[in-house]
Amino acid sequence: MERLPYYQILHLLSLIVLTAHTYMAFANPAPENRKRTLLITVSAALLLFISGFGMLTINKIPFATGWVLVKLVCWLGLAGLAGVAYRKPHLRGILSTVALVLIVTALFMVYRRPF
Ligand code: HEM
Repeated sequence: MERLPYYQILHLLSLIVLTAHTYMAFANPAPENRKRTLLITVSAALLLFISGFGMLTINKIPFATGWVLVKLVCWLGLAGLAGVAYRKPHLRGILSTVALVLIVTALFMVYRRPF
């Protein structure tokens, strides 16, 4: 029997949770939701990271490449945006555009892998 692609499923699931809760923070950065949202976004970001590096290992993709660096920068940015939204709620409009650009860039990298 073929093995389930656990890392892919985890990668996509954590990406969906991270994106959903980040945009929830943009829509309503109420201080009383801050702790819960950050707990969820940081946990999802950690799982995104672990599954990403799991796939790098399984697919024997070298770590020290520009491709991995771009994915890492997108990941770091996306992981931190919810926290920024609570501290600087007036920047929510620009932050949501930044999030979209990071997601599109990371997606583009998946389908334009040079090796
Ligand atoms: C630590 C950062 C990350 C690493 C190391 C990483 C690594 C990877 C790897 C190795 C793959 C498989 C590529 C292939 O099979 O050709 C992948 C797939 C993917 N990544 Fe990431 N990634 C990271 C962050 C992100 C982020 C921020 C996004 C946000 C859009 C993202 C979205 C995806 C998607 C949608 C896939 C396709 C999943 C699939 O193969 O079914 N990744 N990633």
